[in-house]
Amino acid sequence: MTWPSLSYVAEDHKGRIVGYILAKMEEDLKEGEEPHGHVTSISVLRQYRRLGLAKKLMVQSQEAMATVHRAAYVSLHVRKSNRAALSLYRDTLGFTVKEIEKGYYADGEDAYAMRLHLKP
Ligand SMILES: CC(C)(COP(=O)(O)OP(=O)(O)OC[C@H]1O[C@@H](n2cnc3c(N)ncnc32)[C@H](O)[C@@H]1OP(=O)(O)O)[C@@H](O)C(=O)NCCC(=O)NCCS
Repeated sequence: MTWPSLSYVAEDHKGRIVGYILAKMEEDLKEGEEPHGHVTSISVLRQYRRLGLAKKLMVQSQEAMATVHRAAYVSLHVRKSNRAALSLYRDTLGFTVKEIEKGYYADGEDAYAMRLHLKP
């Protein structure tokens, strides 16, 4: 509701949702922190993976963060074991690991906190 330009769905030819990205702008900025976006969740239905949908959803959201909300960068968390997502973020989109957050997930797994600087 608050950041309608940051979240998208991907639909198949019958209008069924096969992927989504849910993102927001960070609201509680610490002193000196630049405005930035955050990807809360992204997923693509299994049969529709490796078609470039997640990349497209990410790029679309990132562009809106930069142009509509003047975000300097986008951040996200990913499980250390999530090879597919890590490869998408690091190899395809150019994110880097900012830090490791120990026990970030409810089951105790560590997260990589990742960032990508956005072009103004
Ligand atoms: C991660 C996820 C969103 C990727 O969706 P996708 O639409 O298949 O991704 P794309 O087709 O856009 O892939 C872009 C690139 O990411 C990388 N990638 C994607 N899936 C991969 C896999 N299974 N193994 C290795 N690399 C992978 C590749 O570099 C790929 O480029 P390529 O196909 O040209 O090699 C999807 O696997 C998913 O929904 N997983 C479950 C939910 C999840 O883990 N979400 C992320 C939480 S942080």
